[in-house]
Amino acid sequence: MKVDVLLGLQWGDEGKGKAVDVLTPNYDVITRFQGGPNAGHSLEFNNMKHVLHTIPSGVFHQNKINIIGNGVVVDPVTFAEEFNGLLKLGIDLRKNLYLSKKTHLILPSHRALDAGKEAAKGKEKIGSTLKGIGPAYTDKTARTGLRIGDITSPKFNEKYNKAKDQHKKLLEIYPSDFNLDEYEQEWMKSIELLKEFTHIDSEHVINNYVNEGKKMLAEGAQGTLLDIDFGTYPFVTSSNTVCAGACTGMGIAPQKIGDVYGIFKAYITRVGSGPFPTELNDQTGEEIRKIGREFGATTGRPRRCGWMDLVALKYVVMLNGVTKLIMTKADVLDAFDTIKIATGYKINGEVVDYMPYDIDVDLEPLYKEFKGWKKDITKMRNADELPAELLEYIKFIEDQVGVPVSIVSVGPERDATIFR
Ligand code: GDP
Ligand code: IMO
Ligand code: MG
Repeated sequence: MKVDVLLGLQWGDEGKGKAVDVLTPNYDVITRFQGGPNAGHSLEFNNMKHVLHTIPSGVFHQNKINIIGNGVVVDPVTFAEEFNGLLKLGIDLRKNLYLSKKTHLILPSHRALDAGKEAAKGKEKIGSTLKGIGPAYTDKTARTGLRIGDITSPKFNEKYNKAKDQHKKLLEIYPSDFNLDEYEQEWMKSIELLKEFTHIDSEHVINNYVNEGKKMLAEGAQGTLLDIDFGTYPFVTSSNTVCAGACTGMGIAPQKIGDVYGIFKAYITRVGSGPFPTELNDQTGEEIRKIGREFGATTGRPRRCGWMDLVALKYVVMLNGVTKLIMTKADVLDAFDTIKIATGYKINGEVVDYMPYDIDVDLEPLYKEFKGWKKDITKMRNADELPAELLEYIKFIEDQVGVPVSIVSVGPERDATIFR
């Protein structure tokens, strides 16, 4: 059995949490493979909304195994908050959530450094979620990080203090008002909670599952336009959000990857700084934000909104080897007379239909216009109910990228989902 992957094709917040929750009944194991508490994955069912950050979005289904893979970075404090929230709902994750021993830890001093480094960037700030992601991955690459496997070692305190001392030197250059001592107390308490979980050699466990024929879904965080290699660098996150990240973040070989679900909104959003060719700084953008409730699930910041970008979509479909597309939030455009999609960019008078090295330039998106469907699609549950204008929009995208739109999401709730 191969491992299917579900990942975001834009700048995050495409609806991954909802989609994973909807698909989980088809799987035995759900795994996160990169990112950390910078992610905010929303799930809605039974008139309740849940936001998950580090924990895989399969946890609301019974008898499923959930794994935090080696490619993730975990902050014990945010993890404990999520755990306790779920415990109140009667879900005790200690039974069926396994942690990879190779998963790196976000230290309190990583959070302080994230704040200090962002502040030092001034106007050029990335707009980080300030969860310590960048500094934690920096230490991983610098080979000075701490991992979950270390927390049960007698040398843990020694390792922790060594890392903290190094960070303190850096904090003299990048000062921040993050309350390190207070956070450290919570952090140490939360480390004790982490010890109550099963720590696994996840690469072995995952490959054994694959060989036994267990069905597995790997859940991405962020989106491909935030990928450390292929995103809008330097306005990106610090991990590989592309499909290849599922191989390194779980320890599986490329040929073990099955379907790649690529999820995108019928428009596009971005939180934080960085170039955004199709951004709408006008009434239309405001309307999308309002109707789509486009405010960050992790930080509450308003999301920047714009029209769908086909140049970017073709690029990310190529990078990820997407086999099935999932379109979300078309319902947000229900009342619009016209829907636009960028099919190319005009840069220095030249038309470009591929993703250039730099989009942070004087760039004019070239749009194709579609007639809006002007119908409420939120109650529709069958593919044959979808309005002709929306189907035309979908067909155009399918023809352009060469991949079918297999699922259309028409609302935040679990059941507002149409399989095609
Ligand atoms: P994720 O990070 O990719 O999991 O996405 P977020 O949870 O950050 O943001 C997606 C938001 O859109 C959440 O509030 C979801 O509840 C909501 N959502 C997901 N799918 C749909 C949809 O098809 N229509 C509408 N209106 N909302 C949706
Ligand atoms: P999900 O999984 C949207 C953005 C931040 C910032 C940049 C770097 O919910 O889709 P970081 O905290 O990683 O150093 O921030 O990346 N970002 C996200 N934007 N959705 C996310 O996750 C994001 N995770 C990080 O806003 O611009
Ligand atoms: Mg999100």
